[in-house]
Amino acid sequence: MTFPHLALLAAILVACAFHPAAAQDAARGATIAAERNCAGCHGAAGVSELERIPSLAGQPAEFITLQMILFREGLRQAPPMNELSQGLEDQAVEDLAAHYASLPAAPPPGLAPRDAALAERGRQLSAALNCGVCHLPDYSGRNQIPRIAGQREDFLRHTLAQYRDSQRRGTDTNMNAVMYGVPDDAIAALAHYMAHQPVRPE
Ligand code: HEC
Ligand code: HEC
Repeated sequence: MTFPHLALLAAILVACAFHPAAAQDAARGATIAAERNCAGCHGAAGVSELERIPSLAGQPAEFITLQMILFREGLRQAPPMNELSQGLEDQAVEDLAAHYASLPAAPPPGLAPRDAALAERGRQLSAALNCGVCHLPDYSGRNQIPRIAGQREDFLRHTLAQYRDSQRRGTDTNMNAVMYGVPDDAIAALAHYMAHQPVRPE
């Protein structure tokens, strides 16, 4: 499979890296989120209560910005987000990102009880596959690397399988390489472990 639009992605990365942070306005982002009813799916405070829909609260702003641009440009195929990101200018995307980054992360509502054996397997896999090297040891993410601590378990399972099966790509292929050949039961253990990671108070 080829990965088109590399020049466009390079331009996006440069834009993200050098855009002054002061230009993002979380209050303006909150207004746009209300107009577009993002809360209808992602939860009132950015903490999702719906199956397979990720929480956005406490994600690094750069990660949200980049994903919205990938959706808008059709480089991450994830209905309904491709449709919903149409017509959002870069400024609106950055404001939305600042808004969600400013909301406190919270544990996923309705999380299945912690299974000690499954969580321990997830912990060992995470150590072996170096998840914490990129996502940080507390899995809170940084820059373009998402928070995965306290993300919804069903979404984590779904998206990790997508990386493995090359149905999802970021601006690089790091996650596809990490997940290459990882079986479903190992994905389930990783998702369970990450969903149960404590969310660090701000
Ligand atoms: C109709 C439901 C719906 C609405 C409304 C919606 N989203 Fe989403 N969003 C989703 C789903 C479903 C996904 C996950 C897609 C996938 O990867 O399978 C998603 C994914 C995302 C992601 C990627 C997060 C991650 O962790 O990978 C971002 C960022 C996002 N949405 C932002 C927004 C914003 C901002 C709005 C409002 C402009 C919005 N969404 C409105 C359903 C919705
Ligand atoms: C070499 C660095 C690196 C390593 C190691 C790594 N990741 Fe990632 N991860 C990333 C980057 C970069 C992204 C964003 C990619 C994109 O844009 O799709 C990401 C995205 C993700 C996402 C998507 C989250 C969301 O909200 O959309 C999940 C889940 C994830 N990683 C889990 C893991 C797990 C579990 C491991 C260990 C098995 C791991 N990662 C190891 C760099 C890494």
